[in-house]
Amino acid sequence: MEKETFRKFGYRFIDWVADYMDELEKLPVLSQVKPGEIRSKLPQNPPIQAETMEKLFLDFKKIILPGITHWQHPSWFAYFPANNSPPSILAELLTAGLGAQCMIWQTSPAAAELEEVVLEWLRQMLGLPEGMEGVIQDTASTATLVALLTAREKATNFEANQKGLKKTLVVYASEETHSSIEKGVKIAGYGRENLCYIPTDDSFAMVPSKLEEAVKRDKKRGLKPACVVATLGTTSSTAIDPLAAIGKICRSQNIWLHVDAAFAGTAAILPEKKWMLEGAENMDSFVFNPHKWMLTNFDCSAYFVKDPGMLIRTFEIHPEYLKTGQDSQVKNFRDWGVQLGRRFRALKLWFVIRSYGVEGLQKIVREHIRLAQMFKEWVKKHEAFELMAPVELSLVCFRLNDGRNEEALEDLNRRLLESLNQTGKVFLTHTTLKGKYVLRMAIASRTTEEFYVQEAWKLITKKAAELLK
Ligand SMILES: Cc1ncc(COP(=O)(O)O)c(C=O)c1O
Repeated sequence: MEKETFRKFGYRFIDWVADYMDELEKLPVLSQVKPGEIRSKLPQNPPIQAETMEKLFLDFKKIILPGITHWQHPSWFAYFPANNSPPSILAELLTAGLGAQCMIWQTSPAAAELEEVVLEWLRQMLGLPEGMEGVIQDTASTATLVALLTAREKATNFEANQKGLKKTLVVYASEETHSSIEKGVKIAGYGRENLCYIPTDDSFAMVPSKLEEAVKRDKKRGLKPACVVATLGTTSSTAIDPLAAIGKICRSQNIWLHVDAAFAGTAAILPEKKWMLEGAENMDSFVFNPHKWMLTNFDCSAYFVKDPGMLIRTFEIHPEYLKTGQDSQVKNFRDWGVQLGRRFRALKLWFVIRSYGVEGLQKIVREHIRLAQMFKEWVKKHEAFELMAPVELSLVCFRLNDGRNEEALEDLNRRLLESLNQTGKVFLTHTTLKGKYVLRMAIASRTTEEFYVQEAWKLITKKAAELLK
């Protein structure tokens, strides 16, 4: 590509992104294409001759864009968000321009040292225990896998790394835990049957006495409890597992405590939400995703450990070609996780935290929580709707309930969800809570304002009335 073309399209793309952000709300939030539709518009063979950027850009708009589900849309209420923000986008551009592969300190000292500094900022912002040290992983799933592997090594005194797993180790998590725990347990060699699901209470949080019972029962059976995964903000309903009580059990039984706060962790920047972390001193590891609620482009997951030595001993490997003269003085993050090659992710976090300031981020998170509380009150007041879980943060679980039996209610709410999402005006998703089908309204997009929540509620009540007619 000619330098001039690069420059010209660089400016045009930024203009396009800025316009996209302005006009995003007019696009259908959920892509309306049918399976195979995009593929059918793409050539089956690669181009032999070079194509122009003009043509590529045109095809991007014509073919790709209709197949995009718009995660940054103000009426995004599905799953949890994957927020970006202007400073984060600009930092990603710089990262791409630098094209640095930051596997060890020497391969970009600034990337390694900035990562140390911004992770320490995050530790302070959330109020995690002093001394915990952080590293950026791609996702919470990876961070949890890293925690499970480290817990495995601790429980076997680093024998599993050498000889393979000889003992039966058990992992505990609530029945509301995220599916990434099961995936991690499978990959880390524990075996799926050795993941013990602990019952939850009426608020869908783990019951510590049930955890204690399970640990004691397993010990009697000659099994070794190795890891407990507590969740702050479960995926289905943002339930908060009681960390203090769970932590006490882990300490007394010498079990690794990993805390998955993938979405909810960001809320700990608010003084009024710090209670979630009561008992944090007993955590061995903690993960949350700035790529969810902290306006940092996907992917960026912040993983903290109490004892980095344990983590490094689990992952370190010393091929000759990676040895450097500075190894004893620096952090080589290649030893802090699975991957060797690493993206320069700290830059976008640095840009986000500096651009918004802690107060700016707090304001956004607090507003989302206010909007969710407002929505919760509308649900509670409406005779046809039922609130299905406490609203701890900014997710409301609810359903339409006109008194028909459970099976019919599931069908009714499925149809409500489909009719809402088909409009392209909003995107919500569902889950089940104690076997009941519920709709999830996750209000945490940077672009969502009160107006969009009001419009969503109008649409929900209108579609519900049509279904009940
Ligand atoms: C509680 C929880 N843990 C883990 C994850 C997985 O996150 P990631 O996509 O970063 O692996 C999610 C995703 O929503 C989640 O809600």
